[in-house]
Amino acid sequence: MGENLSATAKRAGEAVDGERLWQNLMHLAEFGARPDGGVERHALSGADIAARTWLIGEAERRGFSASVDDIANLWIRRKGADEGAEPVIVGSHIDSQPAGGKFDGALGVLAGLEVLTALDVAGIATRRPIDVVAWTNEEGGRFDRSCTGSSVWSGAMALEDFLGDIGADGVRLGDALRLTLDATPDLPRRPRRFPARAYVELHIEQGPVLEAENLDVAAVTGIQGVRWLNVEVAGTAGHAGTTPMTGRRDALQGAHRAIAALNGLMADPQDRVRFTVGRFNAFPNSPNTIPERAVFTIDFRHPDKSLLDHHSERLRPLIEAAAAPCAASLTPTLFMDPIVFPEDLVAKIEEAAQALGHPARRLASGAFHDALYAARVCPAAMIFVPCRAGLSHHPEEWTEPRHARAGARVLAATAAMLAGV
Ligand code: HGY
Ligand code: MN
Ligand code: MN
Repeated sequence: MGENLSATAKRAGEAVDGERLWQNLMHLAEFGARPDGGVERHALSGADIAARTWLIGEAERRGFSASVDDIANLWIRRKGADEGAEPVIVGSHIDSQPAGGKFDGALGVLAGLEVLTALDVAGIATRRPIDVVAWTNEEGGRFDRSCTGSSVWSGAMALEDFLGDIGADGVRLGDALRLTLDATPDLPRRPRRFPARAYVELHIEQGPVLEAENLDVAAVTGIQGVRWLNVEVAGTAGHAGTTPMTGRRDALQGAHRAIAALNGLMADPQDRVRFTVGRFNAFPNSPNTIPERAVFTIDFRHPDKSLLDHHSERLRPLIEAAAAPCAASLTPTLFMDPIVFPEDLVAKIEEAAQALGHPARRLASGAFHDALYAARVCPAAMIFVPCRAGLSHHPEEWTEPRHARAGARVLAATAAMLAGV
């Protein structure tokens, strides 16, 4: 039972049933379905709870055991011959963006369940147990400190750090968490942290490369770093008609000057910096009142840690100067350095793809994933499949059934190798 690509590990990949996986993907997409074909399934929401309940039922119907931890990460286990061995973990997230798609995160979780089923169907015993995980709040669309579940599991953050966070809907994370856990009261609890042999996450590429090169999968080499901050600009409200322009402290104008200055800092002739202001609100948001407060988000990414740090150090003075005479405050909400996945894991994924006849390449990830945090606990890697026009975080996000199947096959063979067959 070494970790090489045995005929048995290959057979695990061949036992994947693409149609069964696809049916599950379409069923999960019904939880939080939007009229435009997309999905709105915020973390710890009613739609998320309904999806979790269905997933637990599906796993138990297939003979696997479900459990949950204190931050509501959902775990589905297939036993190994050596139940005391460190598990192999596969998975992703089932929470979505406000106007998200059917596959971001969902593919990795449901392909994980398909891996467990394929092993059963093929009658393959693994030495190590295999866990499928659905991490809590990867997206950050409701509670904006994303990767909540994986950052707690990895020990990067304490669960208690998150409980007071207020969601975009005004709900306290701790209250939403309690509702979610109370919805499955009989589910056994997992410890908040435990060691693992490896973590492998299947995900849509969320970029155009694999489709453009007509490839089935990518062995992901790493993930670029990301910095999220919330910026608040404070000014003075006043009457739009009677207040002279001279001396105004218009918070929206101050925020606008700050964003213009940020565009200058983030300018990159190589087009490798990724800078986005995804959320912007002004208060009191009335056409004839000078805004007294403006809040906006910064999402800034790059594969080079030194550039991330260089630019991050300049954010505060640059924003304060540009926003003046308004006051400006910055609150970091996410801080992830770039990571490189271990070569032996990336090579296993390539070997599995080749053995199963799926044309593949190596590719770095522009999007962040829970693998960033899992990599703090155990060797982690990712598998990408193409998505149409590279579109994601969009209702028209799409991957072909044959690509979902290809990704699940490679995931199954890789997981089987690591679990020892
Ligand atoms: O924002 C991201 O990179 C991830 O898709 N949530
Ligand atoms: Mn995702
Ligand atoms: Mn996403």
